[in-house]
Amino acid sequence: MASYRRVNALSACPRVDYSPGLGTELRDVQLLELGDEEVDELAELVSERGVVFLRDQSMTLDQQVRVGRMLGELHTHPAAQAPEGFPEVLVLEADPGSTRAAGAWWHTDVSCDQRPPALSMLRLCDVPSSGGDTVWSSMYAALDSLSSTMQGILVGLTARHTGAVYQSTYGMDASEWPVAEHPVVRTHPVTGRRALYVNQVFTSEIVGMRPRESEALLGFLFDHIAYGVEFQTRFRWEPDSVAIWDNRCVQHHAVWDYHPESRLGYRVTTVGERPVL
Ligand code: SIN
Repeated sequence: MASYRRVNALSACPRVDYSPGLGTELRDVQLLELGDEEVDELAELVSERGVVFLRDQSMTLDQQVRVGRMLGELHTHPAAQAPEGFPEVLVLEADPGSTRAAGAWWHTDVSCDQRPPALSMLRLCDVPSSGGDTVWSSMYAALDSLSSTMQGILVGLTARHTGAVYQSTYGMDASEWPVAEHPVVRTHPVTGRRALYVNQVFTSEIVGMRPRESEALLGFLFDHIAYGVEFQTRFRWEPDSVAIWDNRCVQHHAVWDYHPESRLGYRVTTVGERPVL
């Protein structure tokens, strides 16, 4: 069992950046020991770095919910069934009988909500012997790497996001799907930076465009995000690893390459604000 020293300020603890623009692993930190100020500092770091990783964070669901509440008001998933007594916890599980694994496509969490999620905190309990990594992509960098001409086209556009995916994953009826319209480029409320905000799981169309125009533009953007390896980073999970990411400026993709092995984790997510340009 690793030993930890208590830190008064998060800025004092060792950290390893995974790439210049995205992903930082914090060392010698126990989430359960952090006070309000340190959690605020952590949340700010997540918004700057997109995703923060911590290892050896053994905790109960109760404790994970408590840490989640310190990060913000907790979100309840519109379709998934929560474990008994924990309405805000999303179970992410794949086993030998699975025909799909949640999150195995590029996306930002539940962008079909009117106030889509801000931070997500995922803790894995069981991990496969190899594989099962998660990959994140910076939407700050995805936007910045486009030409100023393309950025000029995107700024001011609005996209429709729907929960249609919940029909196949959770059997949700079309009349119950959440639907929302959000700017294609949003300004992050903490960092003030602009980020691309369309994703292949939830974004169905660009408002005001003909279907072929919308498909062509979204197809280009989804490819740009999927193939942009220079603004991605990848995390190799261990039992009790935690990743906290900011859905307002990153997308993620859970890699389902471990079937028929199993993987189990629990996610809590905070409610964000309505996205604005
Ligand atoms: C998700 O939160 O969408 C899934 C992430 C993962 O299982 O790695």
